[in-house]
Amino acid sequence: MIKKGIILAGGLGTRMSPLTKAVNKQLLPVYDKPLIYYPLSVLMLAGIKNILIIVNKGQLNQFRKILPEKNNLGINLSYKEQIFPGGLPEAFIIGEKFINGENIALILGDNFFYSQSLTKKLRQCVKLKVGAKVFLHPVKNPSQYGIAKISKNKIVKIVEKPKKYFSNLAVTGLYFFDKNVCEYSKKLKPSKRNELEIVDLLNKYKSKKKLKAEYIGRGGTWLDTGNINDFYSTSNYVSTIENRQGLKIACLEEISLNNKWIKKVDIVKSLAFYGNCDYSKYLRSLIYKN
Ligand code: DAU
Repeated sequence: MIKKGIILAGGLGTRMSPLTKAVNKQLLPVYDKPLIYYPLSVLMLAGIKNILIIVNKGQLNQFRKILPEKNNLGINLSYKEQIFPGGLPEAFIIGEKFINGENIALILGDNFFYSQSLTKKLRQCVKLKVGAKVFLHPVKNPSQYGIAKISKNKIVKIVEKPKKYFSNLAVTGLYFFDKNVCEYSKKLKPSKRNELEIVDLLNKYKSKKKLKAEYIGRGGTWLDTGNINDFYSTSNYVSTIENRQGLKIACLEEISLNNKWIKKVDIVKSLAFYGNCDYSKYLRSLIYKN
């Protein structure tokens, strides 16, 4: 059972400058919450409560203001800094002590997932014992993502941002790995763009026939907030769903309450933490819900 997860929330956010000059991208708003709430909610829905957030150098205090280690969410949060964005597998080098030889989930801080049965699928994925598992989803612009080709239900090829089309299935920013991940990551060599590449790590598992695919499914949504247009599309998406249903996406306290990690009385502490705002109004409705 995977009990630990990492959120990789560093990066320079250069594609979103000047917004990201003073503030980390993952703290910018996606409608009514900071972006990081969404990937954090995914780990929590998976039942993972031990979470390491990797942030870039100098921005730790910004994160602690909104997600302090001593929080009201019933989760164990810790932080590490990444000195320079040297690639996604660095998460497993920086996080080696946290991982401590166990299996691990990784989610990128700018990824957004929303789908029926997502929790059920996540709860399956955390049962991973050996190998690695990735979530795939079709995209219109495959040259912007890690792309996988499937044949006879198996991943037969994975390439980062392919120039030539061979599949429309993107490898989303949610990964599950066995305990070998630190060792494999340390052996990776930087690519031409001078980064350790997640696809090289995944190819390592593929070469050992230990890479599996899971699908979000056609009715599900995966958005990544890599650039400003994607950011606003995601914000609009959340606003549309929330205002229609009156239910919030990624309300962390609600997930914790459902997971029985906190009690209704703990939500009162969150009300004091957030102050008088729309999010608190929603939290208040949870307290009085039967
Ligand atoms: O979103 C899914 C895609 O994410 C995958 O399909 C690709 O295979 C994968 O390489 C990645 O591609 P991106 O081009 O979107 O990665 P990006 O450099 O934008 O980084 C994604 C997030 O990870 C972002 O929130 C910043 C953070 N990051 C990135 C790097 C390289 C770090 O915290 N540290 C890093 O060293």
